[in-house]
Amino acid sequence: MTENAPLAPLTTLRLGGPARRLVTAHTDQEVIAAVQAADAVGEPLLVIGGGSNLVIGDAGFDGTVLRIATTGSTLDGTVLELAAGEVWADAVATVVLEHGLAGIEFLAGIPGSAGATPVQNVGAYGQEVSQTITEVVAYDRRAGELVTLTNAECGFSYRHSRFKAEPDRWVVLRVRFGLEDHGGLSTPIRYPEVARHYGVEAGGRVEVAAAWNAVLELRAGKGMVLDETDHDTWSAGSFFTNPVLTPEQYQAFLARLDGRQAPAYPAPDGATKTSAAWLIDHAGFRKGYGSGPATLSTKHTLALTNRGRATTADLLSLAREIRAGVHAAFGVELVNEPVMVGVEL
Ligand code: EPU
Repeated sequence: MTENAPLAPLTTLRLGGPARRLVTAHTDQEVIAAVQAADAVGEPLLVIGGGSNLVIGDAGFDGTVLRIATTGSTLDGTVLELAAGEVWADAVATVVLEHGLAGIEFLAGIPGSAGATPVQNVGAYGQEVSQTITEVVAYDRRAGELVTLTNAECGFSYRHSRFKAEPDRWVVLRVRFGLEDHGGLSTPIRYPEVARHYGVEAGGRVEVAAAWNAVLELRAGKGMVLDETDHDTWSAGSFFTNPVLTPEQYQAFLARLDGRQAPAYPAPDGATKTSAAWLIDHAGFRKGYGSGPATLSTKHTLALTNRGRATTADLLSLAREIRAGVHAAFGVELVNEPVMVGVEL
């Protein structure tokens, strides 16, 4: 246990003040013991994994920060079980490159821990973990017991889950995935950008390792693969979710486009999902926008980045400027995707 521990180095943004106390847990038992100890005395608790989707305020966290550093993975046929602390990108690489299995190959290169993937229903390039997660083993702080949630009980939707909806209730310990064996081929390619890369039709398949590799290249080109020396990757990935508009909101939005063509994808219940990156770009905030220590990535407008000496306040003031500019230009309210600790937009 460390007192007054710096948290910035534990986040991919490298931002945030210290924790009153930092505990690192290497086994499920240590995780549960630390959670129970905090809950018994009403101590504020922040659970962190890879820190890749986290914006911590400059004042830090006045309580216990529990870092999940559990390890262990088993693969039995196509059933994969990962301890929450396993590095997600490494687990994906192993499954694809050593076992030739499909189901998570398009989720290559995503920073963060396995235990965080169900929380925000991690997704990219046409796959979401909700498509392969069969069960999540979690500690239920409300009941004080260990539970196994089925996929349906996880309440998954776009970048959302029951774990995100009830943030003070669940601590994810293990995640089980049902992978697919297509004899070394990928699941059907859904994302036009990836299909174009191979000159195949959307819906076609390629070697699973080739799909994995293509995604890594695409992500790296957008600054979405961590690189200590590249400030474009000092981000929390996409800072805003892609807006999902009701039919009425979508009509009002179209009326403001003046003939410009914004990306539009069908979403559940007749809604339309558009692109936050496009809105930001077309509201006048181009790649690299900003003159302070926090700017837009030079590779993607949806990543807000720390150029090395930013504070969380710098990042949030950039985020507020962008949210206001997009609202003024298009009448659409952007919502932050990363978890905010001790701060709000
Ligand atoms: N675009 C711009 N300017 C830019 C970048 C993109 O106008 O600088 C427009 C383009 O029209 C492009 C569209 O935005 O076609 C969409 O861009 P992209 O394909 O990069 O995807 P995204 O919607 O910005 C989402 C996820 C990413 C995920 C990619 C790939 C969200 C919030 N983000 O980004 O996830 O990797 O698709 O599937 O859903 C994350 O959640 O942190 C994340 C990185």
